[in-house]
Amino acid sequence: MEHLKTGEVISKRRKELGLTQNQLAQSLNISFQAVSKWENNSAYPDIEMLPKLAAALHTTVDALLGYRSVVTDYDRRYETEEYYWGLLPNRICYDIMKILPPIKPYRVLDIGCGEGKDAVFLAKCGYAVTAFDISEQGIEKAKRLAEHNKVGVRFFKADISDYDPDMEYDIIFCSGMLHFIPRPGRKELCERLKAHTAENGINALNVFVRKPFITRSWDNPEDEKLRHPWYSGELFGYYHEWLFHICREEVFDCNSGGVPHKHCMDTLIGQKTMHLS
Ligand SMILES: C[S@@+](CC[C@H](N)C(=O)[O-])C[C@H]1O[C@@H](n2cnc3c(N)ncnc32)[C@H](O)[C@@H]1O
Repeated sequence: MEHLKTGEVISKRRKELGLTQNQLAQSLNISFQAVSKWENNSAYPDIEMLPKLAAALHTTVDALLGYRSVVTDYDRRYETEEYYWGLLPNRICYDIMKILPPIKPYRVLDIGCGEGKDAVFLAKCGYAVTAFDISEQGIEKAKRLAEHNKVGVRFFKADISDYDPDMEYDIIFCSGMLHFIPRPGRKELCERLKAHTAENGINALNVFVRKPFITRSWDNPEDEKLRHPWYSGELFGYYHEWLFHICREEVFDCNSGGVPHKHCMDTLIGQKTMHLS
């Protein structure tokens, strides 16, 4: 984990939201001098103030305290001309299309979109796609891919740990990313995704899960420190009140990095269903 100063985080988030120090102060019922002191790192917000401040800045207390996961190896992997993950869409994209076919431009959010192959595919099929990744290189390549395919996708760089969706989405999609989230933050993250899903919208997610019979899941043993596989079934539990369309667990071979290894993955496509008539 990398530790950024809280004052810098507050100032950056406030400016991203287009708020003045005074506007932020007013929304918290405090003086603008207090905000100024936080941003100069000459004082810290009270513990009781942190959740309110996080809500006002559309972020999390963790992010305010400067904790964010560091994922550097993807920038390196995405440096080359070739597309590290290839250009074929993930099979979940086809599952999504069966459940919510693009009869209208449903709003899709692709989290951890990598080099953008799935976001671009879904945009080509007629969805209105927003997609982000923590990797600058990934986003640059994703933009080039969209341009090449002559589709518009709203791509930007962001970290899921301190990103709060700006609107509701019909489809929230996240593939191969959620194992970067340590266990304590996962339930809250799923709640955040659920809250930003429109009624009858879906979440299509997959997670690497740990199994005692798979001893080595990553091609680089160093990766173990950054990656936190989920417990088998954990993802399904966080969505227990939704309608499950797909709920599967599978073991598969992988050759990424040129070293053969196995993964176990849980996949869920759940729908936020209020009433069944
Ligand atoms: C295994 S790749 C999958 C990429 C893409 N979803 C795909 O299937 O082609 C995982 C991606 O998650 C991104 N990532 C990791 N942590 C992230 C975070 N905290 N916020 C946003 N993206 C993140 C990485 O940069 C990487 O591109």
